[in-house]
Amino acid sequence: MRGKHVLIGVTGGIAAYKVGTLIRELVKSGAEVKVMMTEAGARFVSPLTFSALSKNPVLTDLWSSNQSSDSDISTQHIDLANWADVLVIAPASANTIAKLACGISDNLLTIVSLATSRPVILAPTMDAEMYLHEVTQKNLATLSERGYFIVPPAEGELASGLKGPGRLPEIKILTDTIENILTHADRDLIKKRILVTAGPTYEAIDPVRFIGNRSSGKMGFAIARAAAQRGAEVTLIAGPVALETPRNVKRIDVESAQEMLSAVLRYSKKTDAVIMAAAVADFTPAHPAKQKIKKQPGVHSLDLPLKATPDILAALGCSKRNTILAGFALETTDGLSGAKEKLRKKNIDLIVLNSFNKQNRVFGSHENTVTIIDKRGDVERLPKLPKFEVANKILDKIRDLL
Ligand code: C5P
Repeated sequence: MRGKHVLIGVTGGIAAYKVGTLIRELVKSGAEVKVMMTEAGARFVSPLTFSALSKNPVLTDLWSSNQSSDSDISTQHIDLANWADVLVIAPASANTIAKLACGISDNLLTIVSLATSRPVILAPTMDAEMYLHEVTQKNLATLSERGYFIVPPAEGELASGLKGPGRLPEIKILTDTIENILTHADRDLIKKRILVTAGPTYEAIDPVRFIGNRSSGKMGFAIARAAAQRGAEVTLIAGPVALETPRNVKRIDVESAQEMLSAVLRYSKKTDAVIMAAAVADFTPAHPAKQKIKKQPGVHSLDLPLKATPDILAALGCSKRNTILAGFALETTDGLSGAKEKLRKKNIDLIVLNSFNKQNRVFGSHENTVTIIDKRGDVERLPKLPKFEVANKILDKIRDLL
């Protein structure tokens, strides 16, 4: 971690005392460490302790600065946000997690968290009841979806005397996570143009009804977010989804397979890689009605003729030159052989096979279990991972092929 800038945010929690060991380990491995603390954090451990261990002044107050002029105070949060290669909030209290989930920025730590474009790691540490409370879980899910890395708390005896999840994880787990994330924060995709598609498509039956599927778009959005964080110029073509646009990503919204095809053809010129994570409908109503189809008394069925949609990925594969093409496959039978066949038929470089079973629901989940197969025949089976980590694994492969 030599030369890496690790910014640690300490909030109010008894586990704050363990952060001293974290700082020492990081400094020992060559990182430069700066610490900022909330007011509550500074009640548990004196800033002086962390200042001595990190060999840097500890920042606690938004309105005070080590520099002398007012203009330094007004920009110190931006300077810190830009200085960091990674921000680690440990211990992260329920209160700070809730503030981050809704974008409240009322102290230095929450302002810097909002201002930084670098990866943020959260170590939720609190009483088990607070951790397991549905609002805390919902806030953590929101942050995870937004690309924050959540290191789950360890289970065991808590300061209250109760047992459950809520302890700060072992320092080794935290340093390993930081190291792992810093290797992906190297901006190794700088100047690369990447086009990602995500979400379902809606195929109109009439002006108010459609045929769709259960794709939430989370996988494709995670890829777009991770690629942008690694420095790529990212265009995201999204079907109808309810997700926030990741930072530094150009988003184009489409609805049908036909609209997605037009957008992909338009934006895929001069791209280095196209990642088709969208669950594009294979069939669309052949004759969508101009007006809403009415119920007719005595009519108990409706025939809805469908026609095949254009296969976007196969079309790109047909005219493929130097662009790396990646697709997804979701099969309920013949997973691996079906995916390999798809790779060959569509003339693409990489296919990501979703495991679809009771343990891995794929749709709407924050986690995914996939197998990545490339055109050389390499097969990499990944364990169940957060979608953001799956995204980085896919991007590692793409980087190697570029
Ligand atoms: O053939 P199948 O639909 O299973 O292939 C899935 C892959 O092909 C996905 O990457 C999907 O985005 C892409 N696809 C496409 N156009 C379609 C159907 C699927 O690009 N009409």
